[in-house]
Amino acid sequence: MNPAMEITESRVRLREAVRDARSRGRSVSFVPTMGALHEGHLSLIRAAAGGKAFTVVSVFVNPLQFGAGEDFERYPRNLETDAVLAAGAGTDLLYAPGAGDLYAPDFRTNVSVRDLSAKLCGATRPGHFDGVTTVVLKLLHLVTPDQLYVGQKDAQQAIIIRRMLQDLDMEVRLEVRPTVREPDGLALSSRNAYLTAEERAWAPAIHRALVAGRRLAERGERDAAAVVSEIRRGIEGGPGRIDYVAAVDTVRLEPLERLEGDVLLATAVFLGRARLIDNEMFTVEPAAGGRPS
Ligand code: PAJ
Repeated sequence: MNPAMEITESRVRLREAVRDARSRGRSVSFVPTMGALHEGHLSLIRAAAGGKAFTVVSVFVNPLQFGAGEDFERYPRNLETDAVLAAGAGTDLLYAPGAGDLYAPDFRTNVSVRDLSAKLCGATRPGHFDGVTTVVLKLLHLVTPDQLYVGQKDAQQAIIIRRMLQDLDMEVRLEVRPTVREPDGLALSSRNAYLTAEERAWAPAIHRALVAGRRLAERGERDAAAVVSEIRRGIEGGPGRIDYVAAVDTVRLEPLERLEGDVLLATAVFLGRARLIDNEMFTVEPAAGGRPS
């Protein structure tokens, strides 16, 4: 709990507060969010604040990362509740700019991580990851953190941000934290609020299917297509419509034929008014003493 948490929409004040914290010898941690904070976000904030770093959380529903016809207008917004939750988790400074504060009317720059941003979710949401990397790079320039905290829930986003940080020689250290789930396995998401009771009751099938795929791999299945089929079987037949199910490597997001090394099993499912994503990431050890089987 941080009763002294400050809220600002001013980049001038943000920079001043960060400078002050640094002059007092504190490192700076940053958690970017779009608000509607839940335990997933709060776990990132607690981890960020845990090391005594000065912790900045941004709340900004970034128009650049929403496509035409997506949920920008109805995305849940409640800064008052977010402020209470963020303070409770140890935030020092909540930065909540207005859209006009970040994007001047003649804003023209696009930050794009080629190839990676067109795969998986990028195939269905063209331009989405450019919107993410553009805003994240802007926010990193404003906050100048030592540590950046993101969630494994958005695995592709984390992988793309890692690539951008490396490609652009950013010195910030990336911390990817585990997915926080409901007791029944559904990954927490601000978009779960769009689900009807019936859709919500079915939604944990997505995680169950991914876990079934992972178990199959852990029991020795090395054929990626067999694992993908297993996952599809677990999702098909319910109210959800599969966008994609994929088994890819964790750096280039290239489809795998055989499961070897670091593996990302990822899916996106349209369910009612929501599009839900989830993933399992794990390492397949090569078979002992010999060629990887
Ligand atoms: P948002 O969806 O609000 O998520 C903010 C951060 O919380 C992301 O790093 C996301 O991966 C993490 N997160 C969301 N659900 C989680 C869960 N169940 N468990 C653990 N972490 C979770 O992701 C975005 O916003 C935006 O794209 C952003 C990076 C802020 C750029 O606009």
